[in-house]
Amino acid sequence: MIIWRDTMNVGAATVDNDRRELIAIINEFENGGDPDLAEATAKKLYALTQEGFRREEKLQEESRFPGSNRHRNEHALIRDKLEALIRGGFAGQDRGRAERVAQLRDLMRDWVIGHVLRSDMEMKPHIAFATASPSPRPRTRRATGRPATINSRAG
Ligand SMILES: [Fe+2]
Repeated sequence: MIIWRDTMNVGAATVDNDRRELIAIINEFENGGDPDLAEATAKKLYALTQEGFRREEKLQEESRFPGSNRHRNEHALIRDKLEALIRGGFAGQDRGRAERVAQLRDLMRDWVIGHVLRSDMEMKPHIAFATASPSPRPRTRRATGRPATINSRAG
C-alpha cells in the first residue's frame, strides 16, 4: 500500500490528481491481491497514460520545463510496456499470463519509484518558479490625454 503524502505533489492540481489516481489504482490492485484484476488494472493505467501524460506534457511545454524531452521519452516507454502487456493478455492460466502479471507489478513499482517519485519531482521547483514569475507583458505607454508632440529640427 502506497500512502500519498503532500510532499509528493508537484504543485499543479490537475497533474497531482492524475498522480494520486495512479497510486489509487495500484493500491486497489495490490490490496485486492487478485491476479484476475490485472487486465482491468492495466487498462485503467493505460487510460491514465493517455490523458494524464498528455496533461503533464502540456504543463511542461507551457512552463518551458527544460527536461521535457527526456520526460516525454519516459512516458512513452511506460505506455509502450503497458500496451505490450495488454496486447499479451491476462486471460487463461498459462505461464505467460503469470509472467505478465509479474511484469505489470514490476512496471507499477518502477513507475512509482523511478518516475512519480523521481522524474516527476524534477518539475516541482520549475513549476513553482514558473507560476510565481509573472509573465512578461509588453510595456504600454500610459495615456496622458495630451496630444503627441513631435520634436523636430525642421528648418
Ligand atoms: Fe511524468
